[in-house]
Amino acid sequence: MSSFDPDWWRKIFDELYLATDARSIANDEITRTEVDLIEKLLEPRPDDLILDLCAGQGRHSLELSRRGYENIVLIDYSMPLLILGYHVARRQDIVLNFIRCDARFLCLTESSFDHVIIMGNSFGYFRNDADNFAILAEVARILKPGGKILVDLINRDYMMNQFRPQSWHEADEDLVVCRDRTLDNEGIVVRELVLSKQKGLLRDLTYFSRLYCKEELNDIFRHAGFEKVCFLDEFAPHSIKADYGMLTNRTIVSAIAG
Ligand SMILES: C[S@@+](CC[C@H](N)C(=O)[O-])C[C@H]1O[C@@H](n2cnc3c(N)ncnc32)[C@H](O)[C@@H]1O
Repeated sequence: MSSFDPDWWRKIFDELYLATDARSIANDEITRTEVDLIEKLLEPRPDDLILDLCAGQGRHSLELSRRGYENIVLIDYSMPLLILGYHVARRQDIVLNFIRCDARFLCLTESSFDHVIIMGNSFGYFRNDADNFAILAEVARILKPGGKILVDLINRDYMMNQFRPQSWHEADEDLVVCRDRTLDNEGIVVRELVLSKQKGLLRDLTYFSRLYCKEELNDIFRHAGFEKVCFLDEFAPHSIKADYGMLTNRTIVSAIAG
């Protein structure tokens, strides 16, 4: 079993992540494609209360808001990403509610939200599955009965079949990102090295993501209190085929709070 710091997710999501993952998470066309999917699957009304959980810099919330959705709450743990999103929203005269907290312990009233989205492979970061489950249970608690959840996850089968132990890409003129991947029974462990041609090694950090098969997803969603669990496979919003790491080819899970 490969080892990693269980708190890796508190440390990696900063300005450097925005550069290393820019091909997926700083591309307006991809964000618009993802928000098209959110609208199609959740069919929100303009005044519905929507929670963008593990929202990062809020790219989906900002786009939803531009499309006329008025009541959006955005939660993330990363202060640098929240601050960035806050400044973008202010510059564009967009009103969003930013909250910093751990998704396992939501400081929100029960049965109050119409929709929750967890986008960009932000679920399954804990080796101990009780912690991953705690997030789903919290979402079930704060959704109104009949409220909807949409989670954008790694596609396990694709990841196993197309497994590449190593990859590297140039994130920009200065940054080279090298990834060394290991699969084990529970998920994928990735050691990421980020090298600056000017400054040398900027990051050497190992992260984890659980790989769920559909049966496991169905079980944990139902156990958390959801019904009508549906899957959409092979969601690949990038127009150019390449190795985008965990974000290459995704499984979308949607369900309804009971
Ligand atoms: C891969 S990023 C995706 C961000 C955004 N959803 C997107 O698609 O651009 C994962 C995000 O989840 C947040 N996150 C991970 N675990 C979290 C937790 N337990 N509580 C709150 N935020 C968390 C991280 O801070 C990070 O911003």
